[in-house]
Amino acid sequence: MTATVIDGKAFAAKLRAKVAAEVEALGASHGVIPGLAVVLVGEDPASQVYVRNKNRQTREAGMGSFEHKLDASTPEAELLALIDRLNHDPHVHGILVQLPLPGHIDADRVIDAIDPAKDVDGFHVINVGRLGAGLPALTPCTPLGCLMLLRDHLGSLSGKNAVVLGRSNIVGKPMAQLLLKDSCTVTIAHSRTRDLPEVCRGADILVAAVGRPEMVQGDWVKPGATVIDVGINRVTGPDGSGRLVGDVAYESCAAVAGAITPVPGGVGPMTIACLLANTLTACRRSLGLDPVEGLTP
Ligand code: GUN
Repeated sequence: MTATVIDGKAFAAKLRAKVAAEVEALGASHGVIPGLAVVLVGEDPASQVYVRNKNRQTREAGMGSFEHKLDASTPEAELLALIDRLNHDPHVHGILVQLPLPGHIDADRVIDAIDPAKDVDGFHVINVGRLGAGLPALTPCTPLGCLMLLRDHLGSLSGKNAVVLGRSNIVGKPMAQLLLKDSCTVTIAHSRTRDLPEVCRGADILVAAVGRPEMVQGDWVKPGATVIDVGINRVTGPDGSGRLVGDVAYESCAAVAGAITPVPGGVGPMTIACLLANTLTACRRSLGLDPVEGLTP
């Protein structure tokens, strides 16, 4: 079998266009422009690239984009004071503090300071708890993007065996909650799981989010399974050239799977598209409006 390639780049472009149309409609009906504030502390090169892309795509969707770049030595109290200002700024409907933060800043304290109604990353314990309780919540962007790709490809996920490889707060845990909400039988596997290949072979849906280059091999995949690769790892070849690979060994898994996301061009572009969707959702909720159909889990 040769797997269908799930084109996240194309799906994300359609999603951004849908958000942009809804932003325009909201401006016409309510005179409000959704605004996203992104806070970057320090000069981490990967974070700088993400933040640049976020700002560009936010503006392209017709939203307000507010960029706050702080020096790596910024005291925690100064960052908390900025978050307090953004919490009270009526032009700001979403706040994202780029992670990782420098070591002297307590990331949990920073996330806790964000107004849960503006927490477009879905990292605040209020949103984590609401997601777990099956209540409307702002949902972490990467797992939301994976869910959208899975629903688009498979339709109903009900009754499927889903294995989530990785237990991070950003991807693994919220991904498991979303799959459970869609009536999958969910296993969260991780570095201490016994006989990981055998556990993965039981999956109709396999989501890999471990941050280990090409860890998932073809013989870990059930024939016909849908494989979602969240990993973005830069590896250096024997000739010194760099390339991006996922957490999945693409060639060997694509030979067995029914469908698979490539790296790049799979899950990656969905994250920012879902961030824009969450910002629109937060803005609409602030006006007492329901989220747009298809933009929330
Ligand atoms: N760093 C890597 N991924 C993310 C993300 O989804 N949100 C934030 N805030 N920081 C990140």
